[in-house]
Amino acid sequence: MHPMLNVAVKAARRAGNVIQRASLNLDAIRVEKKKHNDFVSEVDRSAEQSIIESILEAYPKHAILAEESGAQGRGEAEYEWIIDPIDGTTNFIHGHPQYAISIALAHKGQIQQAVVYDPNRNDLFTASRGVGAFLNDRRIRVSKRTSLNECVIATGFPVSDQSYIDTYLAMLKDVLAKTAGVRREGAASLDLCNVACGRVDGYWEFKLKPWDLAAGSLLVQEAGGIVTDLKGEQDWFQTGDIVAASPKVLAQVLHLLAPHL
Ligand code: IPD
Ligand code: CA
Ligand code: CA
Repeated sequence: MHPMLNVAVKAARRAGNVIQRASLNLDAIRVEKKKHNDFVSEVDRSAEQSIIESILEAYPKHAILAEESGAQGRGEAEYEWIIDPIDGTTNFIHGHPQYAISIALAHKGQIQQAVVYDPNRNDLFTASRGVGAFLNDRRIRVSKRTSLNECVIATGFPVSDQSYIDTYLAMLKDVLAKTAGVRREGAASLDLCNVACGRVDGYWEFKLKPWDLAAGSLLVQEAGGIVTDLKGEQDWFQTGDIVAASPKVLAQVLHLLAPHL
């Protein structure tokens, strides 16, 4: 395993311990509302601090971009770690066991290493650019299905920004009509990992943040999938509008979404 990936794995497992210990007493956790439908708990903050500590201990000169504490060390640094300490906070605070720790490492702006750790299933998803994607050390690939009517597609509903809800619902209606089903599980990083290991056949969502998609997008690519924005172009990291699937399914999902853009 690449040494930088190894550091990320250790940081993710350590944060997983912090989160799972706290999950045993959910009623005691203080939760704040950042904006409409956007929550943060003290556990998000302490898990994030533990990840940052683990990383800076190994690589003190690297930059950090983390959901709760923002950017630090940018400037000279060629390496930047992109961290979501709990992806799926709404699930976490409801005791709904679908959330993950997401850690990615970018070198000169390109994601090179990725870890998504689901502490409830003890599923560790890892990827290194050019080396492949793995679930608990076993190689994973995107699904082989090609007929859209047999495909299950994951998505994320509009959360705090509701401005595009009508566009979204029109898309959802068409995807529901043309596929075997739609899943809204509530953690974007795991949605992407589920594409990477073929548990779902595709995924789309609007307005994600870099920490939601940095690690999961490399997992999809290294598992033989493709990531684009909603127009099939490469602006997904900037816009946060994302579609991910195997090449054949991706083309069909883009075709379904296109009339609504
Ligand atoms: C959220 C989750 C959710 C997605 C939201 C994200 P958070 O992340 O990934 O699935 O629909 O857009 O903000 O806030 O739980 O880290
Ligand atoms: Ca997130
Ligand atoms: Ca989060």
